[in-house]
Amino acid sequence: MFYKLAFSTFNALIALQMDGVNKKHWEQIYAHKSSNEVSWTQLNLGVAASFFNQAELASDAKLIDVGSGRKGMLEFWLNTGFQQLTALDVSANALKQLSDELLEQDLDKVTLVETDVLNFTSDASFDYWNDRAVFHFLTTEAEKQKYVEQVNRMAHNYLCIGTFSKAGPRKCSGLEISQYNPEELTELFGGQFELVDSKLEAHQTPFGTEQEFVFCLFKRKEL
Ligand SMILES: C[S@@+](CC[C@H](N)C(=O)[O-])C[C@H]1O[C@@H](n2cnc3c(N)ncnc32)[C@H](O)[C@@H]1O
Repeated sequence: MFYKLAFSTFNALIALQMDGVNKKHWEQIYAHKSSNEVSWTQLNLGVAASFFNQAELASDAKLIDVGSGRKGMLEFWLNTGFQQLTALDVSANALKQLSDELLEQDLDKVTLVETDVLNFTSDASFDYWNDRAVFHFLTTEAEKQKYVEQVNRMAHNYLCIGTFSKAGPRKCSGLEISQYNPEELTELFGGQFELVDSKLEAHQTPFGTEQEFVFCLFKRKEL
């Protein structure tokens, strides 16, 4: 009992500490850097959009973009007629820019959630959980397992994870990251999800450099 309590307190402290450190970093980024000054900006969504299309969801599906930043998948989802959207980000500045730039007409279709994904609590069950370049910032086993628990609890149909590949950069936005291949992502998420597809993507940054991502699309296993 004591050990259980001590372990959960330890986990809660890790999450709180991470929230503090990460949040400050991301608030600074979105306060001081434009879209052209950050590596992850994509002019055209590539694999993330094609994997989403592959899922063939109805327009009333519940979709979440985890670590949406100031754009993420939201514009694409709104333009393709989806109406029950959640944008989650640890940065209030990112979400403010997202709502200012994209959502004036569509705010009623979007729920904005400012939180660390590891601390996110919701009764919602999402039909599509999208994460491009967020999971890879989790570098400890405890953080990775917590994320898997979050997904297992709230992602009820499809899960799309995009991270730097084994040939990708070792850091993102100056922070340490974990690189993956499809086998490792399947090992992590395969308890409750089966792999549908995986693809590498050579992302062209706004600075003219290339970063290799790996994307995996998973579907919840039938019970
Ligand atoms: C590299 S950017 C990617 C943004 C967007 N997904 C895209 O592909 O354009 C990472 C984003 O995730 C957010 N983020 C980082 N760690 C997070 C966490 N633990 N929980 C929620 N958001 C996080 C950052 O604020 C930032 O907007």
